[in-house]
Amino acid sequence: MQPPLLLANIGQLLTLQSASGKPGPRRGPDLKQLGIIEEGAVLCLGGKIVSVGTSKEALRDPWLKKNRKKVTEIDCADKVVLPGFVDSHTHPVFVSPRLVDFEKRIEGATYEQIAAAGGGIRSSLEGVRRAGKRVLAEKVLAVLRDMCAHGTTTVEAKSGYGLTVESEMKALDAIREAASRWPGTVIATLLGAHVVPKEFQGRSQKYVELVCTEMIPQAAKRKLAQFVDVFCDQGAFTSEETERIFEAAQQHGLSVRAHMGQLSETLLRPFLRFNPASFDHMDHVNADDIAELARHDTVATLVPGANYFLGMKEYPQARPLIDTGVPVALATDYNPGTSPTLSMPMAMSLACTHMKMSPAEAIAAATINGAWALRVADRKGSIEAGKDADLAIFAVRDYREIPYWLGANGCELTIMNGTLGTPQ
Ligand code: NIG
Ligand code: FE
Repeated sequence: MQPPLLLANIGQLLTLQSASGKPGPRRGPDLKQLGIIEEGAVLCLGGKIVSVGTSKEALRDPWLKKNRKKVTEIDCADKVVLPGFVDSHTHPVFVSPRLVDFEKRIEGATYEQIAAAGGGIRSSLEGVRRAGKRVLAEKVLAVLRDMCAHGTTTVEAKSGYGLTVESEMKALDAIREAASRWPGTVIATLLGAHVVPKEFQGRSQKYVELVCTEMIPQAAKRKLAQFVDVFCDQGAFTSEETERIFEAAQQHGLSVRAHMGQLSETLLRPFLRFNPASFDHMDHVNADDIAELARHDTVATLVPGANYFLGMKEYPQARPLIDTGVPVALATDYNPGTSPTLSMPMAMSLACTHMKMSPAEAIAAATINGAWALRVADRKGSIEAGKDADLAIFAVRDYREIPYWLGANGCELTIMNGTLGTPQ
C-alpha cells in the first residue's frame, strides 16, 4: 500500500471536476471548465485521492492533524497541479524509426505514395516480427517512462506492427509485460487491422478473416486487449471490412475504436451501433456525422502531431466539432510513421495554435475526455476523492503555460496510482 501523500501549496489546482454536473464526456462550453482551486491541496492514500480542497482546509483535516508524521508532504511552491494526462492513442510497439520515409517526405512524397511504394506501416513489420518479446517490452517500457516524464499517467497502447497472429500476440504480450513494470495505467488495443500485409496483397478478405477468427479470439481469451482498433481509410480497410471486424470484436466481448477520416472521409453513422469508444484523427468528417456524434458518447480523438509531422497545412476541424457538442479528446498518436512524439503538451500546443482550441479546452481534452475515450473516466482524468491518485506537477504559475512553452517539458513530477515518478 502506498504511503499517504499530501500535495500542498498548489498555486493552481486543476481538478477538472464537472461544473455543470452533466454526466458523460465534456462537450461544448463544459470543455473549458477546469475546476480551478487556488492555493490548493490534495491528499492521497493507498493509491487513491481522498480529499481535494484548499491548503488551509487540508491542514484542518482531523485525520491529517493526527497522522501528519506518517504523510509524505510535497510542497508544490505555487506551481500548477493537474490530473496526469491520459494519452488515449499510441502505437509504441515498434523497433526502428522510419528515417527513409522522413527524408522522402521532405523531398515531396506523400504518406500515401510512400506506403504504396512499400514504405510506411509495412516497412515496420519486419523489425517487430523478428524481435523477441523481451526486446519489445523494453522498448515499450522506455516509452512509458518517457511519457511519465512528460506528465502522462494513463496510456492506450496498440499492437499493429506485426500483422501475423503470432507477432500481434507477441506485441500485446510485450505491452502487458511493460505495463506490469510501470506504476501508471496501460490500456491495450489490438490493431491487427492496421494495413493488409504484403503476403495477403489482393486477398484482403482472407486477412480480415484471420483478424476476426484468430487474432480477436486469442486476444480476448488471453485478456490481452480491451479494445479492437481498425485503420478504416483508403489504402487500409474498407467500411464493410471494418464492420466485420467490429462484429467479431463484439462477439468476443471487446470494445471498439477506429482510425477514421485521416486520409479520406468515411460515413460514420453505420458504425455507431457498435458504440465505439472513439473515432480517431477525424480530419475528414461531414456535418451530418458531426451532428450525430454530438448525440453520442463516442469521443472524437484528435491527433495533431500526425498533421504536424506529415507537414500538412490542414488540421482536424476542432472548432465545429466542439461547438456542435461532440466530445473531443487529444492524444499523441505516438508512432514511427506519422507522429514520433510522446509529449501531450506538444499535442496540446498544436491543438491551440493550429486547431484554435483554448488552453483550457486542450487540458480537458488531454485529461478527462481522454479518460472517456478509454472508458476509464470513473477512475481517471480528474482530481476527485475516490479517483486514482494520478497527478502531474508542472513548474509553471499559470496552466496556460503548459501549451505555451512549445517543445519544452515543464513537468516536474508525476504521481501514478499514488507512486511518485522519478523527479525531473
Ligand atoms: O495513426 N494511420 C494509421 N496509423 C498511424 C500511422 C502508422 C504508421 O505510419 O506507422 C497513425 O497515423
Ligand atoms: Fe494512430
